[in-house]
Amino acid sequence: MAEINATLTLPTGEVVDLPVLKGSYGPDVIDVSGLLKAGYFTYDPGFMSTASTESKITYIDGDEGVLLHRGYSIEDLAENSDYLETCFLLWYGHLPNKEQKKTFVNNITRHTMVHESLAHFFDGFHHNAHPMAMMCGAVGALSAFYHDVMDIRSDRDREIAAHRLVAKMPTLAAMCYKHSIGQPFMYPRNDLSYAANFLYMMFGTPCEEYTVSPAVEKAMDRIFLLHADHEQNASTSTVRLSGSTGANPFACISAGIAALWGPAHGGANEAVLMMLDEIGSVENIPMFIEKAKDPNDPFKLMGFGHRVYKNFDPRAKVMKASSDEVLAELGVNDPRLAVAMELERIALSDPYFAERKLFPNVDFYSGIILSAIGIPTSMFTVIFAVSRTIGWIAHWHEMSSSPYKIGRPRQLYTGETPRPYKG
Ligand code: SDX
Repeated sequence: MAEINATLTLPTGEVVDLPVLKGSYGPDVIDVSGLLKAGYFTYDPGFMSTASTESKITYIDGDEGVLLHRGYSIEDLAENSDYLETCFLLWYGHLPNKEQKKTFVNNITRHTMVHESLAHFFDGFHHNAHPMAMMCGAVGALSAFYHDVMDIRSDRDREIAAHRLVAKMPTLAAMCYKHSIGQPFMYPRNDLSYAANFLYMMFGTPCEEYTVSPAVEKAMDRIFLLHADHEQNASTSTVRLSGSTGANPFACISAGIAALWGPAHGGANEAVLMMLDEIGSVENIPMFIEKAKDPNDPFKLMGFGHRVYKNFDPRAKVMKASSDEVLAELGVNDPRLAVAMELERIALSDPYFAERKLFPNVDFYSGIILSAIGIPTSMFTVIFAVSRTIGWIAHWHEMSSSPYKIGRPRQLYTGETPRPYKG
């Protein structure tokens, strides 16, 4: 419990004691839940200074550019772990031993197929439907197959739902892509790793053998790992809020996918590539930098800035190193990388960006790698959603594992005061 209190003197002169709660790392919080009794709400649009919950999963220090998953730095995990091991860590809170990892990977592998009826679900989508639109629908539709066979109060049922979601997301993502190009769906293969299986389902065809290059497999796994979780970001908060009503996990993840789609959030990776294509060449960069600085111009540098990071996004650093590696290994010479590097150099030397602490974020380089391994731009945010599913469902599980209240924010009302109806 709180050892110290903050005191707040209200306009009425009343002094309110507000408990200060201490975390294990990072800022303490002032518990304002008692403020309503004094007749006040707090007001914090965008939740800039608001901790919505207590959590043990991920810690971010925006000033220092630190990202920890269950205490392990993202740099350590990117160097030494892989995506499924990081999924295990996020869900269970510790790294698996050899036996636990083998069992977990086997469980995920054996849940990768989707119900055959789901294949027909895609017939309803026009071929040029955006893959994120299809993902929102297809993942939400999983509720129809599992809604009545799970009790969200059961630890075991929540674990099975998590296995199903982590396992089936790549399959559904690849189905979205195949539908958009009119090719047959590829069934998952149990002899492939998580990343290789996804690439196989994306690019394989029934007509010939398809082998995944180890360099591409490693790059794909690292992209999945780097996007796995990120504290209480907009889409994770959406999943928690949806989960607080008791909605089933498949519906909650579908809500998270919808929130991630926005260009200010997960949609930024697709928007970065579209921006680099629009800039076209290094010579045009100064014009776009001026547009980004113009308060009257809605244009923003996609892949720059972050609500929390006021330093380099540690994931962007790892992603940048990976993009150099992957492009060299694949012998890909993507002119957009040259534009991206020059854009980064110019922006970071411009006072406008330095004053506002706008640095490249996770989305700035991920699109370059995804392009290099042949992923179409429209699939970038889908891949972000595949990766972030473990983060979303781990937060949903953490919330569902202990007593919780339905999330229901209040407001500052500035509308009409009561007035009589005059016909
Ligand atoms: C992700 O939250 C997470 O953790 C998200 C994420 C995750 O893993 O879940 O990290 C993933 O969403 C990364 C962010 C991807 N989005 C983009 O790259 C889109 C471009 N970035 C911006 O839209 C913006 O930076 C946000 C949305 C990311 C953050 O916006 P904030 O925190 O609300 O900051 P702000 O809009 O108030 O900006 C502060 C100032 C403003 O200028 P002033 O009004 O002070 O003059 O900085 C400016 C903004 O105009 N600014 C930018 C800018 N981002 C902010 N100016 C130009 N280009 C930009 N990219």
